[in-house]
Amino acid sequence: MNDKITAPVFKDRKGKEKLTMLTAYDYVCAGIVDDAGIDSILVGDSLGQVVLGYPSTIPVTVDEMIHHTKAVSRGVKRALVVIDMPFMSYHESIEQARRNAGRMIKESGASAVKLEGGVIMKEVIKALVDIEIPVMGHIGLTPQSINRMGGYKVQGKGEEAKRLIDDAKAVEEAGAFAVVLECVPRELAKEITGMISIPTIGIGAGPDCDGQVLVIHDLLGILEGFRPKFVKTYMNLRQEMDSAVKSYIKEVQEGAFPDDSRSFH
Ligand code: KIV
Repeated sequence: MNDKITAPVFKDRKGKEKLTMLTAYDYVCAGIVDDAGIDSILVGDSLGQVVLGYPSTIPVTVDEMIHHTKAVSRGVKRALVVIDMPFMSYHESIEQARRNAGRMIKESGASAVKLEGGVIMKEVIKALVDIEIPVMGHIGLTPQSINRMGGYKVQGKGEEAKRLIDDAKAVEEAGAFAVVLECVPRELAKEITGMISIPTIGIGAGPDCDGQVLVIHDLLGILEGFRPKFVKTYMNLRQEMDSAVKSYIKEVQEGAFPDDSRSFH
């Protein structure tokens, strides 16, 4: 349990043990998740929505990703830290992708990058792998495509299945060490998992993937509003926090906190 998880170790786990991954965006949370024994921590660009309050992942910048990933890396001893490349940080050219990925790895302490796109990003993935940067792919529902997709919908149904299979093969052929499958029908995720040699990490892709990833805020039940079907909340932290904060307000207002036991003499 103590050996550092590297990208090759992560990849070699396929077919042997299920892989576990969660997002984290700060030092304390990363330390808790790492100490609990997670295999990999993703500093996802979901940062934009769950930490920074943006309406989507689109506005997230390279600097914001580096800032939060530095904090995460300081809290992690064992897990593989993966940093998400934000929208428009790898879309212009191979040179731009290399420059940003290189900077993100050098400055953030992460050991791998993740980027969205299959066939269309094949050359970009290859170019990063060629300069020794491990890449995790991400296909299916790719949140950076929100403006084209017009909403967060299940991908790869019917005719679209073939496109998704091509995407998975392209990511594998480009040299990625793993691929996230987001919001994909269970049967298709199973087929892709059996077809490629790198681990598939599912989120809304059923139980047959090689591993699973969730946004930590979803697992903790801290967010308000819509909760996708695939999310399982393991506690209701929002309620716990609400009641703790309300107790504090009440005790301060009533003069019950701080009492003499919490005072200096
Ligand atoms: O940004 C993110 O948190 C992600 C996961 C949902 C896979 O990409």
